[in-house]
Amino acid sequence: MKPGAGSTFVLTGPDRGVEPTRISKCAHTVLFQLWGAGSSWSPPKYGIRGINRVKVPDSLKPSGVEEERLFAELDANKLPQHVAVIMDGNGRWAQRRHLPRIAGHRAGVQSARTVIESCARLNIPALTLYAFSMENWRRPKAEIDFLMRLLREYLRKELPVIHRNNIRLLVIGRPDQLPEAVRTDVERAMDQTAKNSGMQLAVALNYGGRAELVDAFNRILDRVRNNGLANARVDEDMISQHLYTAGLPDPDLLIRTSGEMRVSNFLLWQIAYAEIYVTETLWPDFTRAQLLEALLDFQKRERRYGGLAETRQRVIA
Ligand code: FPP
Repeated sequence: MKPGAGSTFVLTGPDRGVEPTRISKCAHTVLFQLWGAGSSWSPPKYGIRGINRVKVPDSLKPSGVEEERLFAELDANKLPQHVAVIMDGNGRWAQRRHLPRIAGHRAGVQSARTVIESCARLNIPALTLYAFSMENWRRPKAEIDFLMRLLREYLRKELPVIHRNNIRLLVIGRPDQLPEAVRTDVERAMDQTAKNSGMQLAVALNYGGRAELVDAFNRILDRVRNNGLANARVDEDMISQHLYTAGLPDPDLLIRTSGEMRVSNFLLWQIAYAEIYVTETLWPDFTRAQLLEALLDFQKRERRYGGLAETRQRVIA
């Protein structure tokens, strides 16, 4: 289906089942993303002040005036290619409510669901969520067991929705140390969605950024040895191609919740040029409006990659 040709678009979405819904195109807004359509369509250049406005389908309707305002400010042409999220603060969220920590993790699943759905519908090509680090094994066994059960429950419940919406699920990290049942579920989910062409959703599980680099270097060494490439030299592309995230664009936006100013061994190579957005909000309180705030903040940043700002370049030229 090629949206943009007529005055209406056909939408499908998990919230409304598979039945299509029709909505009309407004004068100064552009309907932006079809949930799961996986189309390469980019919005026509309508809008005022050079901004390609994003108008979302019914299934992602703003929940209030504030969300509506945020959506209206978003520029469809300046969305990140890859959003990476350090979901932090589940434990504190629970503690503040005098609940066990696991209640925070359960509440955190809803935030993950909201962010996955919103990014996919906004046509953001890749999203990575830090679900379980290699350091997390230091937590009490009961909490680890709960997190593993929660992940399996999430996969069981959400996989049909993920698949229906053309999302490709990847798990990045060292799978060999995960419980057998988790590994089996993860492999099944990856196999089932392997051919999907929409958003790539990477879930970092038993993940460590340094371990990822070690694994990449060892894979390169194996290749060199096995192919007798005595004169081979390593370059940046070669390293990128041997990371767990090979094939994904590098994250251009890294979001961290709960206010901690650190990267916690997450995607160390890949975030070299990422814009970092830290919010005090605890992960279970992270809403779609807050995701939109982060995207808007990203759109205001001047990305220089070590060069000069555009305005300074003009002055010098
Ligand atoms: C950090 O909170 C969060 C985690 C250890 C990750 C768990 C994430 C979820 C359960 C979200 C669901 C994700 C998916 C993909 C289904 P914390 O316990 O470190 O919080 P604290 O710093 O307040 O103790």
